[in-house]
Order: sequence, then C-alpha cells, then structure tokens
Amino acid sequence: MYRTHNNGQLRAADINKQVTLAGWVQKTRNKGFMVWVDLRDRYGITQLIFDEERTSKEVMEKATKLGREFVIQITGTVIERESKNPNIPTGDVEILVSELNLLNDSITPPFTIEDETDGGEDLRMKYRYLDIRRKPVRENLIFRSKVAMAVRNYLSNEGFIEVETPYLIKSTPEGARDFVVPSRMNEGQFYALPQSPQTFKQLLMVGGMDKYFQIVKCFRDEDLRADRQPEFTQIDCEMAFVEQEDILNAFEGLTKHLLKEINGVEIAQFPRMTYDEAMEKYGNDKPDIRFGMEFCPLAPEWGTFEPKGFPVFDVAELVVAINVEGCAKYTRKQIDALIDWVKRPQIGATGLIWVKYNEDGTLKSSIDKFFGEKTLKQWAEKCNSKPGDLMLIMAGQKNKTRTQLSALRMHLAEQLGLRKNNEFAPLWVVDFPLLEWDEDTNRYHAMHHPFTSPKPGQLELLDTNPGDVKANAYDLVLNGNEIGGGSIRIHDKKTQALMFDYLGFTTEEAKAQFGFLMDAFQYGAPPHGGIAFGLDRLVAILGGQETIRDFIAFPKNNAGRDVMIDAPAKIDETQLEELHLKVEIKS
Ligand code: AMO
Repeated sequence: MYRTHNNGQLRAADINKQVTLAGWVQKTRNKGFMVWVDLRDRYGITQLIFDEERTSKEVMEKATKLGREFVIQITGTVIERESKNPNIPTGDVEILVSELNLLNDSITPPFTIEDETDGGEDLRMKYRYLDIRRKPVRENLIFRSKVAMAVRNYLSNEGFIEVETPYLIKSTPEGARDFVVPSRMNEGQFYALPQSPQTFKQLLMVGGMDKYFQIVKCFRDEDLRADRQPEFTQIDCEMAFVEQEDILNAFEGLTKHLLKEINGVEIAQFPRMTYDEAMEKYGNDKPDIRFGMEFCPLAPEWGTFEPKGFPVFDVAELVVAINVEGCAKYTRKQIDALIDWVKRPQIGATGLIWVKYNEDGTLKSSIDKFFGEKTLKQWAEKCNSKPGDLMLIMAGQKNKTRTQLSALRMHLAEQLGLRKNNEFAPLWVVDFPLLEWDEDTNRYHAMHHPFTSPKPGQLELLDTNPGDVKANAYDLVLNGNEIGGGSIRIHDKKTQALMFDYLGFTTEEAKAQFGFLMDAFQYGAPPHGGIAFGLDRLVAILGGQETIRDFIAFPKNNAGRDVMIDAPAKIDETQLEELHLKVEIKS
C-alpha cells in the first residue's frame, strides 16, 4: 500500500497515529539537526519532520538529499506541530518520519510549483504537467469537473439522453473555418472536424430521441481570444416538440441549478431583452448588466433644440452618451487617457467628448465653444446625470459608434471595479436577426446558422427587407459573455431548401453538403430546437474569471499552438504520400 492517508487529510485528532504518505517534495528546510519537508499531492500539503534525536541516521541522511519535486513515500507518527500554520487545514500537525522511501527523483523544475510562481505564461504552457501540480490550475480543473458533473446529473434527471456523435464528418457551417482531415482510403477527399454537432443532433430528433445532450469537443479554425480556443467543449442540447419558450425554460432551469449548486446564488427569473434593445441600450448583443451606464442617445432625436455648427454632430448618424457616476472629478490626464484608449486602432474612434457635471452644479465640456450650459443641462437631464457625474459622448455612423462606446463602457467598468466576479447577472437575448450582412462577400449570411427558423410569418420579408427578418434564435449571456446560443430549427424540406437558396447555395451545392438532412426531413421530422453552451466559458465565469485557457487542462496558445507537444508539426514523407498529399515539385 503506497499510502494510508492523503496529504490534505490529517488533523489534530489523528495525533499519535502511525501513517504512510506519498507525494511530491514541495520544499525542504535543512537546519542540520532537523529537516522539514512540505509533502504535496492533489489534496494538500503535510509537513514532515526529520529530527536527529528521533530519526535514524540513515533516514536523516536520505532526507538531507531530497530535492524539489522528488517523489517519496514516508512512514511516521502524527505529532502536534510546535508552530502551527493556520493557513492550511493540516497546519496543526506534522509527521515525525521513521521511514523514507525514494520513489523517483526529479531534475529541478523550470519554475516554482507554488500558488505564486516565478514562471511566465510561455514556460508554464511548455511544462503544463508541472503547472497542473500548482494549486490554482489544479483547483480550476477540479472545479471544471464539478460543473460538468452537475450538468450531467441535472440533464440526466430531466430525461435527457447523452449520445455521442462522430468527429470525422463533413463541414457544418457555424461561421468559422473547418479543420480538415485527409482521408487515406479516399484519395483527394477530406473529413471536416465538427464545428458543432448541429446536424447530427437534428438527425437524432428525426430519430425520435426527443431530449438529447452531449458534452462534446468542437473544432473551429478561427482567431484566438481570451474566450476562444480552436478546440473547445460544448454542452450541446436538442429537444423535439418544443417552442422557444420550452427551450428557454428548460435551460434557464439548468443555469439556475448550476448557479445555486456551484456558487450558492439564487436567481428567481432571468431577464429577457430583444437583440434590438440590447444594441440600443448597450451597443452589444451580450451586455454586462451588472452595472448601469446604459446608452443615452442624444441624436437624431435632439429634443427641444437643434444643435448646429459642431461639425462632428452635424454629420453624425448617431450621437450617444454614457453617464459615468462620480467621475466628474477625473483629471485632464485621466480623460486624455480615455481619449487615447478609444483612438487606438483596436477601437478606432476619432475622438471622445466629455461633459462634467460638477458637484457645485456647474457644467463644463470639451465642446463649450459650441454648446452653452443650458444645452449641457438638457443632455444631463436626458441621461439622468447628477452633480458629480461625467458624461462621455461619441458620434458617427450608428453601428460603429455603438460598438466603440460599448467597448469604452466595458473598459470603464473594469477600471472602476464594477465587474464584480462574485456577482452573477444572466440575461436572455432573444429575437436575433435571421441574417447578417457580410461586408467581405457583399451578401447576407445566416447570423446563427442556416438551420435556424425565421419567426412565424416573417419568411415573406426575405425578398423585401432581409435584414429585418427576425429568427427564433436566442443567446444566454452571463456577466457580459455569451455562454450559450441556440434556435428553433426549420423542420421541413421546403423551407430549408428556400433558406439554402436564399443563402446562395445552388441546389447542387445544398444537396452535396446537406442532402442527408433534407432527405431526413422527408420522413416525418418533428418540430425541434435546442441550444449549446460553451462549457469552457461557463466554467470560467462561474469560477469568477474570463480566460478559458485557465480552465482547460492542455490549451493552445494565442498562435493556436500546443507548445508542450509542439503541435501542429510537419509529418513525414511517407505519411504525406499515404494521404495523397505529396506535392510533386517540377523543376
Ligand atoms: P454557437 O456557435 O453559438 O452555437 O456556439 C455555442 C456556444 O459555444 C461557445 N463557443 C466557444 N467557446 C470557446 N471557444 C470557441 N472558439 C467557441 N465558439 C463558440 C460559446 C457559444 O455560445 N450549433 C449551435 C448551437 C445551437 O444552435 O444549438 C452552436 O454551435 O459559448
């Protein structure tokens, strides 16, 4: 038996017990006549003591030779610690060692394996297995497992069946590029890894599974961000014989359960907001509603006065303000820093206008030359600005201005500490547009995916006002992050064919790519719909963070590389040949 207890287990009640422990040497302190060792495993740290007077010479000698990360097994007696450590649960006791068995030695690790490490991100990624020994990473992985387990239990209790779907498939259009896998047995042909199991879960509904879920890997070849990885995990769900309301209720139930089970937070009912409202109020389809700073449009409806002469406003499609509470005291330097921030290429604004509503009731702005105090007061009233507040205004083309002001709103909230990670504000955003204009290809694309059903009676609008057609599509937003998205699907061949046609697929292309789905729809497809949560995002947010990499055991870096195994990598000539990928270079 390697151990009788783990390293997080022993307490004062165990004093005088004879125990055997195993683990890694985190740290040693050698005073010559006494040696202390911190022994670590997944469960915690237990202090070992080797004492010249009470430990044999042979064991004492072995103890002095222990290095960081050596793997050892010890036997000894639990004794009361002279100087107790209240910071760890095992801090009242230590083990007086009588036997020491070296199970494996270790070369010096490239960074310290402690809560606060001296290793930078790149180094820790390269030696991820060592990083996983550190408590913060380990705890995140344990947390992830706990969330995944809670999801499985909940959905299983609600009658959902977990079904695995294949990874070697054909393209599923979720808006990113596919990762492709060449086929050895079919020359010149490729599988695509699923961007999601979308079409398969719909086929499971045709197959009568009724309530499906799967915790499943998805693959998307897209640029990385803090909340995006090329391979990530979805809680993918689908139900038959449902309307939008049924789906929202079912998965609000799941999210409520998780918030309660994992975070101890009870939320009675999730608010709902239409996509249009979210864009108007927050300039964003995934607004963080934990704090105010809602958009206050000043133009085109200026109200009682018509400002003239300030060129930026005169040509603007939208003039919109946010009110930042208590920030009238911002210095010139602080405001300049905000102006520089919005002018960075990532945001791309041309400028930012400020209006200070001073504590003494006077108003001062960066455009005093054009607007008198009376006008500023009117704006303040419109935006519910009070003495002591700062109004920040942006103007320009509607969508661009909204996006820029939304970024500023989030930046300020971050700066002002308004994005509290122990506060949870879920929100359903509903009534997404069916289509989205794509500047690059100069045409409309499906905003969610081509299987999403338009709202009843809106199909006719497709020919006249395609941008106005709303879908039975919804997102679940948590603290300003899109953690889930789904829709009610088209379930008849005719509408699906119409949609493909509308999205620019020729009949042949649609048949080649999605013939199987259209065929299936001819055999009595039930009305159905579903949703998929991003498990990595959900876990990170419930864990009070936003970087999903910290909750993935072996993530990719920003260039999409696994620096530990050094992938992607070249493959050898024989493999290339077998896969029919060898390119003949003619001289
Ligand atoms: P969607 O594309 O909105 O919908 O994806 C669902 C959820 O998956 C998460 N997500 C990601 N997480 C990490 N890294 C990524 N690269 C990444 N991309 C997406 C997000 C998102 O909300 N088949 C549909 C679902 C449906 O209609 O039922 C789908 O995949 O949290």
